[in-house]
Amino acid sequence: MRSHIKDISLINQGKRRIEWAAREMPVLKLIDARFEKERPFAGVRMAACLHVTAETANLMRALRAGGAEVLLCASNPLSTQDDVAAALVKEGIPVFAKKGENRETFYRHLIAALDHLPQLTMDDGADLIHLLHTKRKSQIKEVAGSCEETTTGVIRLRAMEKEGKLRVPVIDVNDAKTKHFFDNRYGTGQSTVDGIVRATNVLLAGKVFVVAGYGWCGKGLAMRAKGMGARVVVTEVDAVAGIEAVMDGFEVMPMQRAACLGDFFVTATGDISVIRREHMIKMKDGAIMANTGHFNVEIDVADLEKWAVGKREVRDFLVEYRLKNGKKINLIAEGRLVNLAAAEGHPSAVMDMSFANQALSAEYLWKNKGKLPAKVISVPEAIDAMIARLKLKAMGVTIDNLTPKQRRYLQSWREGT
Ligand code: NAI
Repeated sequence: MRSHIKDISLINQGKRRIEWAAREMPVLKLIDARFEKERPFAGVRMAACLHVTAETANLMRALRAGGAEVLLCASNPLSTQDDVAAALVKEGIPVFAKKGENRETFYRHLIAALDHLPQLTMDDGADLIHLLHTKRKSQIKEVAGSCEETTTGVIRLRAMEKEGKLRVPVIDVNDAKTKHFFDNRYGTGQSTVDGIVRATNVLLAGKVFVVAGYGWCGKGLAMRAKGMGARVVVTEVDAVAGIEAVMDGFEVMPMQRAACLGDFFVTATGDISVIRREHMIKMKDGAIMANTGHFNVEIDVADLEKWAVGKREVRDFLVEYRLKNGKKINLIAEGRLVNLAAAEGHPSAVMDMSFANQALSAEYLWKNKGKLPAKVISVPEAIDAMIARLKLKAMGVTIDNLTPKQRRYLQSWREGT
């Protein structure tokens, strides 16, 4: 990253984009102002492994305003915005990330983050915590806690906890209502469509758009693809989610059948090998595949690389594979998070709430250091509720308050009528 530091135009572009994002992040701005006054992290070393975007830059600024010595590395090799990284480095926040870095560099950067000897960490996918517990065990006692941003990271952490391997308290930021209701649903919905459109410029209206997984991300994506005029098909493995998709008006079927129908296929499951060879050979000529789940394991890309008879890059982030059966199918951004690789990730207005949760959870961890169990912990309800109130206020929306009579009624079991 340091190679960019002298590129003034890149630095200025990054700075402008960070400021543009800040306009839509009023809750984080309030937190930043309070942190600057109260300095809750004075002298605390913090390492964050997050997507290096303009919104993340605003979080880094807020943590630093609170006195933290913060360092940032990327949580995905393709999600870094180099201009933002350059601007942060210029401001004195070390960033270890470069868009398109290879696997080896990606891991070297994670190690660099741990070399910072963090007392608090932040993850989007649990990579830092994983590394801490496998390669840097001696550092664990220095870490007061960590915050986890995404569904897949929480799944990994819960697995560690279940096996008795988790040694630090971790706050499940994803679990906050003000996080997953909005970030996973509306954020992923809009930015995933954005990534697909930027990478392909193909019309969605009238096309068959297959969404694998009808969780928070899948729901948002299906809703937005429908809004663009696509005919949405959903695949699921969970019966309740399947019913929900049907009742939301979508066709639900197994991938084996959807494979023959789709023009677009997008995975949003957090699961592995959701689109496999047996599906790809059934796809229509020209079908387009992408993934918006955390890891690039949802589409069997390594396998496709082996059995495809040819490939070429047709546009930025778009590779066309030639199959033995004569058909061509396309893959966006190597099957990595399409919204961050081919677009700019979630809009700032939702990251405002996600990162408000990160900032306040980190403060909670530090205030309570040594007192919390080495478990996956929910974001305190009071924090979630406060973020919702502040966001609504910033949106200029007011809602009703319970009257004393209503409050009594809702708390009692005696008054049935
Ligand atoms: P979720 O748990 O709410 O939903 C996942 C859904 O996928 C569940 O309904 C599950 O039944 C379904 N599923 C699992 N295996 C499947 C299979 N083989 N075929 C079809 N459906 C299957 O999770 P959420 O919050 O929607 O997250 C999904 C993924 O997206 C995770 O990896 C998460 O980390 C990631 N994520 C990505 C974001 C982005 O910026 N692109 C933002 C937030 C989350």
